[in-house]
Amino acid sequence: MTGSHCYCFSGIISIFFSLIIHTLSSTTPHFCLHHQREALLEFRDEFPIDELDPNPWNKNTTDCCLWKGVMCDDRSGQVISLNLADTSLNGSFKTNSSLFRLQYLRHLKLSYCNIQGEIPSSLGNLSRLTVIDLSHNNLVGEIPASIGNLKRLRHVELGANTLIGAIPSSLGILNQLRYLSLAANELTGEIPSSLGNLSSLLELRLSINHLVGQVPASIGNLNDLQVISLGQNTLNGTIPTSFANLTKLYHISLRSNNFTSTLPFNMSGFHNLEHFDVAANSFLGSFPKSLFTIPSLQVVYLDDNQFTGPIEFVNTSKSSSSPKLEILSLSSNIFIGLVPESISNFLNLGEINLCENNFNGPIPRSISKLVNLHDLNLANNNLKGQVSASLWRLTTVTLSNNFFSSFENPSEETVIQALDLNSNSFQGPFPHWVCNAKGLSFLDLSNNLFNGSIPLCLKNSIVSFSDLILRNNSFSGPLPDIFASATELRSLDVSRNHLEGNLPKSLMNCKSLQLVNMESNSIKDVFPTWLGSLPSLHVLILRSNEFHGTLHHHHVFVGFQSLRIIDISRNDFTGTLPPHCFSSWRGMTILREEDDPYMADIINDSVFYRNSMVMVIKGVELSFERIQQDFRAIDFSGNRIYGEIPESLSFLKELHLLNLSGNAFTSHIPRSLANLTKLETLDLSRNKLSGQIPRDLGELSSLSYMNFSSNLLRGPVPGSTQFQRQNCSSFSDNDRLFGLEEICGKIQVSPPTSQQHEQLSEPEEQLFNWGAAAIAYGPGVFCGLVIGHIFTSHYHKSWSKKNTIKGR
Ligand SMILES: *[C@@H]1O[C@H](CO)[C@@H](O)[C@H](O)[C@H]1NC(C)=O
Ligand SMILES: *[C@@H]1O[C@H](CO)[C@@H](O)[C@H](O)[C@H]1NC(C)=O
Ligand SMILES: *[C@@H]1O[C@H](CO)[C@@H](O)[C@H](O)[C@H]1NC(C)=O
Ligand SMILES: *[C@@H]1O[C@H](CO)[C@@H](O)[C@H](O)[C@H]1NC(C)=O
Ligand SMILES: *[C@@H]1O[C@H](CO)[C@@H](O)[C@H](O)[C@H]1NC(C)=O
Ligand SMILES: *[C@@H]1O[C@H](CO)[C@@H](O)[C@H](O)[C@H]1NC(C)=O
Ligand SMILES: *[C@@H]1O[C@H](CO)[C@@H](O)[C@H](O)[C@H]1NC(C)=O
Ligand SMILES: *[C@@H]1O[C@H](CO)[C@@H](O)[C@H](O)[C@H]1NC(C)=O
Ligand SMILES: *[C@@H]1O[C@H](CO)[C@@H](O)[C@H](O)[C@H]1NC(C)=O
Ligand SMILES: *[C@@H]1O[C@H](CO)[C@@H](O)[C@H](O)[C@H]1NC(C)=O
Ligand SMILES: *[C@@H]1O[C@H](CO)[C@@H](O)[C@H](O)[C@H]1NC(C)=O
Ligand SMILES: *[C@@H]1O[C@H](CO)[C@@H](O)[C@H](O)[C@H]1NC(C)=O
Repeated sequence: MTGSHCYCFSGIISIFFSLIIHTLSSTTPHFCLHHQREALLEFRDEFPIDELDPNPWNKNTTDCCLWKGVMCDDRSGQVISLNLADTSLNGSFKTNSSLFRLQYLRHLKLSYCNIQGEIPSSLGNLSRLTVIDLSHNNLVGEIPASIGNLKRLRHVELGANTLIGAIPSSLGILNQLRYLSLAANELTGEIPSSLGNLSSLLELRLSINHLVGQVPASIGNLNDLQVISLGQNTLNGTIPTSFANLTKLYHISLRSNNFTSTLPFNMSGFHNLEHFDVAANSFLGSFPKSLFTIPSLQVVYLDDNQFTGPIEFVNTSKSSSSPKLEILSLSSNIFIGLVPESISNFLNLGEINLCENNFNGPIPRSISKLVNLHDLNLANNNLKGQVSASLWRLTTVTLSNNFFSSFENPSEETVIQALDLNSNSFQGPFPHWVCNAKGLSFLDLSNNLFNGSIPLCLKNSIVSFSDLILRNNSFSGPLPDIFASATELRSLDVSRNHLEGNLPKSLMNCKSLQLVNMESNSIKDVFPTWLGSLPSLHVLILRSNEFHGTLHHHHVFVGFQSLRIIDISRNDFTGTLPPHCFSSWRGMTILREEDDPYMADIINDSVFYRNSMVMVIKGVELSFERIQQDFRAIDFSGNRIYGEIPESLSFLKELHLLNLSGNAFTSHIPRSLANLTKLETLDLSRNKLSGQIPRDLGELSSLSYMNFSSNLLRGPVPGSTQFQRQNCSSFSDNDRLFGLEEICGKIQVSPPTSQQHEQLSEPEEQLFNWGAAAIAYGPGVFCGLVIGHIFTSHYHKSWSKKNTIKGR
């Protein structure tokens, strides 16, 4: 279009320079062809490249072969390569894009270019293409079948877009193809069997799509295949026996599919195999012994399948059959028997995960020979005996939910970072050697039989702690004042022990603290107003202690800006609640921290609470292992608080649970409570509330449980469905409530007595569903497997493992 200014002065200078450069760099000077230069400029103009982006091409430089990302053929000057990776183009391809006029293009690399829209089928006109990389864009629509016209393609990378539809079977024609990745898209349908024609293929990457059906047997024809990655689809059936011919494979990943059947063949033929991952499927059968004869093997994930029986390793007189094995992960299967001593033949093992199987007996002593081991997870088995001191030189040791009874003390300094002894039969005093574990960050001793005091020396190592969980032991004496340097501490759970004395004031320094759980001890103190300054405190549980004193002073609840759950029930607090006392509780007025820049900072590095927690939901004690981020609760029940229910409670608009029962509140129920539109549980029973039940509460569509019993209420019960669904007992023992015919049944017009309350409790199923939906979940690591959503909840009284729900 604008050829004329090419001959201006600066143009001549740039030509001059480019000639010099090219004379220096290559023997045959080349010069960009005019029509190709125009095509490139038009292509650039098709995209609204952000002004802030440095312009990649200077229109005034005549030789487009010098432009960033452009390469020309030395002889002909044809543009043969365009590489604009990492340049934000921020636009979409035109169907007749001038790109397609670059007929000599061999390499097209436009990854991370922020391209939207569809891939035009005219791409199929660039018949000389050998490499195409459009990965990490926002491309949508189907993969054009015309890609099958590009017979010279050797490398196709379309991963990390939002492409839909089926994989075009025309891809099977590309018999030069060595690399094919369509991973991380939204592709559906089956894997076309024509892919078995890609006889040159070295890598096939189709993971993270929605592919279904069986893997075609023709894939077994890809004799040169080195990498097959099909993880995170919905593929099913068996692995074709023809796979046995793929002896050059070094990487197999079938993770997270619906494969059933046994691993069907003798795998020792995969003599190059390094990485074998079939986790999160439904594979059956016994431990694949043959795998562990492969000398190159480095990583094995069999987690989360239905493998059964004992594990055993082929006995070789030589050092080890798979000397390079670094990761052995067998969690969540049905393996039984002893953990064999021969596991230590794999001298390079760094990580062993046997979590959630039926292993029994002791930890093999030979494990001490594994000098590279750093991560050992034996949780959720039936292992027992003494834990040897050799484990304390690892960085992560998870022994939870077994029957271990004792451990040797370390003979040297430990480097341990995470130690989980939760739910075993350990007894005796607090392990003092922990005081010298300078890097320790996570310590969970909960649900054991530890007793005695929590030692003062813990202040030597507390500086590195993020989680200190001592729940449900028999620790006694005061909680020592050791937290002055604990600036990393996120959660402190000493609940269900026999601790007494004050709450240590040094907790004030724990600026990272998110959870404090003191439940069920004998701590004697006034309300810790001084915790109000902690910027990230989300959960404060003081329930069932000997806290006392009046809550009636203006500063009592000042601060606590991140608080989401506060439970001070079953103590001896008294006084009235100051009228504006809740105004600073921002955490209860904001749902998502993104809404609040200040809190966004805090939440970014916050984890979901791993700690279990008990709350009274619908009058039943429920224990939760994870707490949903959205959940907000206030439980002040079982104290001696009196006076009016403060109107300011109604500012806490994200509140799900409000329990003020068993106090001495007087006056009316504030109408403004009807502003709490998220409220699911409202318990005002056993107070001295008078007047009517505000009709507006009937508008709260989330409110599924309410209890007004044992007050001095009178007047009509609101007629809304929320009210009509309640148990009759929720209104019992009041002054003169009426309109209960529907709720209490025609026969029983007067509200029942409290004895009848017990019989009227709701079916467990319903309760559980409620709790599950509302409270407990969180993305988390379970047995070392990263699982999208997982939640565990059980009734304290009557429920056990059968109610554990695992999301996958
Ligand atoms: C991309 O373009 C849109 C308008 O089409 C604009 O709003 C957005 O800011 C642009 N993004 C970048 C990164 O340039
Ligand atoms: C290109 O040349 C025009 C005049 O032809 C000039 O106005 C412009 O500033 C030049 N642009 C650059 C980036 O050198
Ligand atoms: C691609 O080729 C087809 C047929 O060969 C032709 O109709 C079409 O115009 C071409 N597209 C472009 C953008 O050159
Ligand atoms: C591409 O098509 C649009 C209309 O669809 C047209 O306006 C434009 O001129 C065409 N561009 C080229 C290079 O053919
Ligand atoms: C490609 O594969 C299909 C299906 O597997 C087969 O029918 C066809 O004959 C093959 N084509 C070539 C050229 O090998
Ligand atoms: C595999 O999945 C397909 C569709 O998703 C289904 O029709 C077929 O029955 C499944 N086969 C097996 C063996 O589960
Ligand atoms: C493996 O390849 C051989 C020869 O290439 C062939 O005879 C055999 O049938 C193949 N095996 C399977 C299971 O496909
Ligand atoms: C795949 O397996 C998961 C878990 O076993 C199951 O929930 C899902 O329904 C299965 N999907 C199909 C399509 O069979
Ligand atoms: C497994 O295959 C290897 C060679 O691929 C062979 O040496 C070995 O005997 C086979 N083992 C069994 C149990 O068939
Ligand atoms: C396996 O090795 C152990 C100890 O090295 C040895 O006692 C045992 O006899 C071996 N078993 C076989 C079958 O070779
Ligand atoms: C701890 O418990 C053991 C018995 O399990 C008992 O002998 C010991 O006296 C207890 N220690 C303390 C300090 O209570
Ligand atoms: C409750 O909401 C009403 C309007 O819905 C508003 O007028 C009133 O001020 C609110 N009360 C409180 C205490 O937020």
